[in-house]
Amino acid sequence: MWMKCILALVVAALVGQQIAAVEGLSCYTCNSPSSCRYPSSQYCNVQTANATSSWLSAIHSNVPSIVTYDYKCVNLTYFYASNNVKAQEILGCYYSAIPVCNLNLNATNAYSWAKSCRTCNYNNCNHNPAGTFSKSSFTIMASALLLILVKVFV
Ligand SMILES: *[C@@H]1O[C@H](CO)[C@@H](O)[C@H](O)[C@H]1NC(C)=O
Ligand SMILES: *[C@@H]1O[C@H](CO)[C@@H](O)[C@H](O)[C@H]1NC(C)=O
Ligand SMILES: *[C@@H]1O[C@H](CO)[C@@H](O)[C@H](O)[C@H]1NC(C)=O
Repeated sequence: MWMKCILALVVAALVGQQIAAVEGLSCYTCNSPSSCRYPSSQYCNVQTANATSSWLSAIHSNVPSIVTYDYKCVNLTYFYASNNVKAQEILGCYYSAIPVCNLNLNATNAYSWAKSCRTCNYNNCNHNPAGTFSKSSFTIMASALLLILVKVFV
């Protein structure tokens, strides 16, 4: 009995997340190596995407001032090439029309920075290790649980 209840709850949660993914996007958000140790998740809208644009503009010279309703998540991290320490880390929702991984740096000493950049478009996908969990494996898990549930109930 308890097993059935727990399974039903798990499936409800999974299905809920899938529905949320259709309705909108949430991304982890932070703008420095220290704040990115505990990033918070934010819903993508004009406010949060604008915030990302202004963080990007603080260290890049060619961020286009785009406003659309198409969002993605990004983790853009710069390292000091000499020692791999993080110089800058920006996570957030951004307007997908911005070529976020191909912006020109103009921050001081940026010539010695190495870049790591990853974009994705499902809920909270821009955080390690959550990002290693692909959407398809998530869907497979949900379907497997659903199958188990059907077997338990029928
Ligand atoms: C977002 O940025 C655009 C362009 O810079 C600006 O016109 C708009 O007012 C901003 N919207 C919000 C909600 O901050
Ligand atoms: C980089 O360029 C942008 C746009 O020209 C400017 O707003 C910003 O202050 C610059 N940042 C630095 C660190 O030079
Ligand atoms: C962002 O990406 C960098 C480089 O891959 C990684 O070290 C860091 O942990 C990521 N940030 C978060 C909050 O997942």
